[in-house]
Amino acid sequence: MEFKAIIDAKARNDAGCAVVGIYEEGDLGIAARRIDTQLGGLIGKLHRDGDFSGKLGDILLLPTPAGAAAARVLLIGLGTRSDFGRKQYRKALQSTASSLGKTGASDAVVYLALEEVADLDVQYRARVVAEVFCAQLYKIPDLKTSVKPKAPRLSSVSVAVADARASKAAAEGLRIGAAIGGGLALARDLANLPPNVCTPTYLGTRAQALAKDFPSVKTKVLDESGIRALKMGAFLAVTQGSDQPPRLIVCEYRGAKKNKAPICLVGKGITFDSGGISLKDPPAMDEMKFDMSGAATVLGTMRAIAELKLPVNLVVIIATCENMPGGGAVKPADIVTTMSGQTVEILNTDAEGRLILCDAITYSRRFKPAAVIDVATLTGACIIALGNHFSGLMSNNEALADELQSAGIRADDRAWRLPIGEEFVEQLKSNFADIANVGGREGGACTAASFLSKFAKDLQWAHLDVAGTAWLGGAQKGSTGRPVPLLVDFLINHVRAT
Ligand code: BES
Ligand code: MN
Ligand code: ZN
Repeated sequence: MEFKAIIDAKARNDAGCAVVGIYEEGDLGIAARRIDTQLGGLIGKLHRDGDFSGKLGDILLLPTPAGAAAARVLLIGLGTRSDFGRKQYRKALQSTASSLGKTGASDAVVYLALEEVADLDVQYRARVVAEVFCAQLYKIPDLKTSVKPKAPRLSSVSVAVADARASKAAAEGLRIGAAIGGGLALARDLANLPPNVCTPTYLGTRAQALAKDFPSVKTKVLDESGIRALKMGAFLAVTQGSDQPPRLIVCEYRGAKKNKAPICLVGKGITFDSGGISLKDPPAMDEMKFDMSGAATVLGTMRAIAELKLPVNLVVIIATCENMPGGGAVKPADIVTTMSGQTVEILNTDAEGRLILCDAITYSRRFKPAAVIDVATLTGACIIALGNHFSGLMSNNEALADELQSAGIRADDRAWRLPIGEEFVEQLKSNFADIANVGGREGGACTAASFLSKFAKDLQWAHLDVAGTAWLGGAQKGSTGRPVPLLVDFLINHVRAT
């Protein structure tokens, strides 16, 4: 998809579709007023006659309207003017994108960014257009053998803005939005793949492919012997029951001065979580192919940052393996020595995410990072706490937590702060090792994060538990790509602030 910013007054007259908004009060948006005049007052009449109410997200396609300067006009309901804010703006665009995809138009001019949206500048308004169009037109790479529905014709979207200055800001917004869209699509593609395709080895090759596509990214993939050499005893314990070999993937992007401390993103890459010897119940076990969503989203974020050429140093670290039962699998009561030297009693082999992550976090120390953020589908308890709406956010650093939380709000990919600390670490006491890998049902998301905090120690660290947000189940089953939007927004603003 190609995105362009154009100045309203110079908008081409032969667009495949013009997209204009109407408020519920019958108040026509800026562009809608002009097009209404071209159409001899048709839009106003549709509203007065009750044929188009302007309710948020409502759509009405006017094909080949006589007098209009476009082949089609798509009316979008904006809801009431007083309620029109960031979320409503996004929702209106979601309706726009999905209905435009069903028309025959190959190009469209979207006039919605001309609308005043409380606290949103032009750059942001344009960014959301690109973001939403990319996300809405995303197709799962399915393996269905039936005839594929035709791909939408739409290949070019122009955003109309007021003047040259706004056009520059909008162009930058579109660039950001498209990069988020590209990162999101990569993350979703990887997570949606079946686990017999998306293995640790496969993730390694995709990370290498990313380095090919973006020469600013350097990828290193360690195999089991490399992981052993690093003494990652916890990571190795998780992989030992599986026939698929593990990988430690490291992608480095240097966009800022060499001596600037990098941000490290650490991703959980369990390509299938059966639970191991502590085997899971069958219902929804298939969804455990999504247990590599953390890995997928940190790679997606890397892609977006490299595409944006953001002046930041970014390191992505992915620990990836399967969690399987078997004669050689790790057992409840086994004790392992982590890369940090601390010993862990594995009481439940299904609490494997924290085992691979604790070693990956320890590994991140070699980059002397400014901050380490791990992303993981870590606990069912986090879904119980926050549903599918918020990612869990835990951190040992207030400023970092605040930055991440605000990024989530701006990107409409929200995270909610949950506590960590000594109280939860107390639950992880073991009679036989330094720490146990589970601490009972109570506060499960917090004990998991508190376990990780024992390895993050003095690092500026945050943890995003995306168990509830990384994918949808049921009829909508599929990856959401979250928290790519949050992370990209965080990094963009981190660069501005430092
Ligand atoms: N990958 C799961 C967490 C999960 C479960 C994510 C369901 C999304 C949906 C993780 O490895 C796990 O199994 N966690 C256990 C921890 C428990 C054994 C302490 C859990 O949440 O049940
Ligand atoms: Mn598990
Ligand atoms: Zn898991």
